[in-house]
Amino acid sequence: MSTLRLGDIAPNFTAKTSEGDINFHEWLGEGWGILFSHPADYTPVCTTELGTVAKYTEEFTKRNVKVAALSVDGVDSHLGWIKDINETQNTTVNFPIIADEDRKVSDLYDMIHPNADTTLTVRSVFVIGPDKKIKLTITYPASTGRNFDELLRVIDSLQLTAYHKVATPANWKHGDDVVIVPAVKNEDIAELFPKGHKEVKPYLRVTPQPNV
Ligand code: BEZ
Repeated sequence: MSTLRLGDIAPNFTAKTSEGDINFHEWLGEGWGILFSHPADYTPVCTTELGTVAKYTEEFTKRNVKVAALSVDGVDSHLGWIKDINETQNTTVNFPIIADEDRKVSDLYDMIHPNADTTLTVRSVFVIGPDKKIKLTITYPASTGRNFDELLRVIDSLQLTAYHKVATPANWKHGDDVVIVPAVKNEDIAELFPKGHKEVKPYLRVTPQPNV
């Protein structure tokens, strides 16, 4: 196991899940993916997180993102827990939960941080692009449930900046102005950004979001 960094290929693996066996790269296909870990089944924060992700299905699908959760419990445990999630969170879990009983995937993705907990995973998030490269990693402690609105916001930024020569400023959200990357020469701006731009400073050039 070595630390995974942005731009690395997301390691492939085969695993049992609540929706059958998967080969991760084949399961991802040509689109975007999110892999996120949970400390354990039948725990309160995780229950709310998985319910929230299930409710966001339409948002992930719209962005061509497949979601896979992981915890170090087995398939039977996952299936029982999913019933609880559906009941208590008033939703239907419709994405696979990886059963990582032997910690194979957790080790591959460095999801167990022994100085935090020797056996349970932390709350890791990996966003993976269509090229299978890691685009984003975030790590939360077990005691803090993730903000999935933030995850959607980052995916919007990643998908925008993957296809346009822009970056997104602090607190940006879909529809806000974006910044033109420094590599773009002033003489190319008019052609690349027909909606116009404003030069606040020579290094800070702002333009309306190109893809809305
Ligand atoms: C939870 O999901 O609620 C949780 C799991 C492990 C430690 C603390 C909270």
